[in-house]
Amino acid sequence: MKISGICGSLRKNSWNNILLKIVLNKIAKNKKINTEIINVSNFPLYNADIESIKTPEDVIQAKSKIQKSDLIIFSSPAYNGSYSGVMKNIVDWLSRSPQVLPDKNALVIGCTPGMSGTLLGYTHLNQLLFGLGVNVLSQPRILVSSINKKLDTDGNLIDEDLELLIEKSIETILDKITI
Ligand SMILES: Cc1cc2nc3c(=O)[nH]c(=O)nc-3n(C[C@H](O)[C@H](O)[C@H](O)COP(=O)(O)O)c2cc1C
Repeated sequence: MKISGICGSLRKNSWNNILLKIVLNKIAKNKKINTEIINVSNFPLYNADIESIKTPEDVIQAKSKIQKSDLIIFSSPAYNGSYSGVMKNIVDWLSRSPQVLPDKNALVIGCTPGMSGTLLGYTHLNQLLFGLGVNVLSQPRILVSSINKKLDTDGNLIDEDLELLIEKSIETILDKITI
């Protein structure tokens, strides 16, 4: 089994990337499952002119990794009451032929230093993926408010409740995708 992650923030110290890493590392360590964060940082802004010449190599590589994964975890920041534009651009590239998203298992997660827990962004991204035929898991929900108080500056979890939520969530995820 393989579980991969995609982050919708390009920021070096992105909380969403740290959260994704924590979840994937716990899956790899506790469940001995192969995990990877797919590099999407060099995807250009979608432009059909670029695509008509050649699909960028990073997009081809990412699609190949998705094809070989049993679950994709999408971790996106909340931007203006939705998910990030970076994430939309990633999904736009990934949605192009040859299709790799339909029927793929996916889970959306997210975190914010604010109080919203990224709920609107989570809902919108679920809707986008559902429309593309992705098998989006409606549970568990790893949506985190005040993330800056739950991780230290090195990206270590310092909040017991969040650690417990992530551990329980991993059990739920594996139950759902190994049926
Ligand atoms: C353009 C913009 C819009 C934002 N809108 C929201 C928002 O609607 N809700 C929220 O909780 N945080 C919002 N934020 C704060 C981000 O969630 C915060 O910067 C977060 O740390 C970004 O994710 P990252 O750390 O993974 O890069 C916004 C930030 C930016 C730059």
